[in-house]
Amino acid sequence: MSGDDDITGSSAASEGFDVASVRKDFPILEQIQDGHRLVFLDSAASSQRPNQVLDAMARLYQHSYANVHRGVYRVAERATNEFEGARHKVARFIGAPGANEVIFTKNATEAINLVAASWGRANLGPGDAVVLSLLEHHANIVPWQMLAAEKGLEIRWIPITADGALDLTNLDRLMDGAKFCSITAMSNVTGALTPTDQIIAAARAAGARTLIDACQSVPHMPTDVASLGADFVAFSGHKMLGPTGIGVLWGREDVLDAMPPFLGGGGMILNVTTEGFVPDGLPAKFEAGTPPIAEAVGLGAAIDYLEDIGMEAIRRHEVEITAYALRKLTAELGDSIKIHGPSEPSARGAVLSIEMDGVHAHDVSQVLDERAVCIRPGHHCAKPLMRELGVSATARASFYLYNDNEDVDALSDALIRARDFFAI
Ligand code: ALA
Repeated sequence: MSGDDDITGSSAASEGFDVASVRKDFPILEQIQDGHRLVFLDSAASSQRPNQVLDAMARLYQHSYANVHRGVYRVAERATNEFEGARHKVARFIGAPGANEVIFTKNATEAINLVAASWGRANLGPGDAVVLSLLEHHANIVPWQMLAAEKGLEIRWIPITADGALDLTNLDRLMDGAKFCSITAMSNVTGALTPTDQIIAAARAAGARTLIDACQSVPHMPTDVASLGADFVAFSGHKMLGPTGIGVLWGREDVLDAMPPFLGGGGMILNVTTEGFVPDGLPAKFEAGTPPIAEAVGLGAAIDYLEDIGMEAIRRHEVEITAYALRKLTAELGDSIKIHGPSEPSARGAVLSIEMDGVHAHDVSQVLDERAVCIRPGHHCAKPLMRELGVSATARASFYLYNDNEDVDALSDALIRARDFFAI
């Protein structure tokens, strides 16, 4: 779409790739529900998967499946090679200096818990401060609150601005003496992108370690952990066209090396005696038990798919669709809705949290489902943020590479229907 003010046009193609042909790779999007084409606008919760990912997982199970790092027969060696090949793909995708800095976890939540439980328990004590922000998802709040209760930590909160972005006015004061800072790269509610460079620089100047919750950014824009400057980055496979059950913790090699294991069991030891155990090196030290093997292979295929299209092209497409959605919904629904988050599309991701005047988000969502428009209502696992915004729930539409302006038009029509349905 061009950057003009046309709110009626519905382009299917975006500069760099053709959304209509992308959509053909996602069988679920061909579904017709009550005579309406499925319009999937809930990728911030979990994305859909293309045939290429489903096929890669099926191929592994059909031809090369065995446990990894154990058997010496050829099938097991193939499985291990595919699994470790996926780790290399992840490392390349995020610009990690080495594949042994990529730890496979169950999801991003487990990755953050790993850091809190391992690094946090080993390095934090009574009175130490951890800096979070009011934009955080519960996954980047509760692990720190659990650790704070155990260790007597102080949690400091970076506040938000009126438009749902971070307010960095007192950043240096908040960082003063802090030992750790854990911040989202993009809010899953307001869509605001956070100035990670500035926050990481301030944290480093204060001597604090840093974690970036990149769940909402890694799937949607280029990521380079080497230039980011954080100590840890966490994200999930299922939000980036991969399967559920796999997440990633990237960490600096020297920092991960110095950390004690998180979970104990098979696969993470060099030796075990009745007296104790010696942990293995990276990444095995943090991957106790049978890992998510087919899920890693599926994630590798998802990365191939995203790289084929190009992360810059995906980001461009999402800025365009966000700009179109902001214009279209504002023009069509006016004062009957409020859209949270920055008004400038380039300052946000493709996530629109909508409040409809006098109508609960769950009711909005149900009426939208009658038109096969799938959005997520609720607090989005970010209750402190919702309290700050003064709302209990929003109706959240989120876009990805398989969405286009026609999906925005369907959302707009369904929202108008919901508004009119509930009008007194
Ligand atoms: N974190 C996911 C969301 O924001 C589940 O919807």
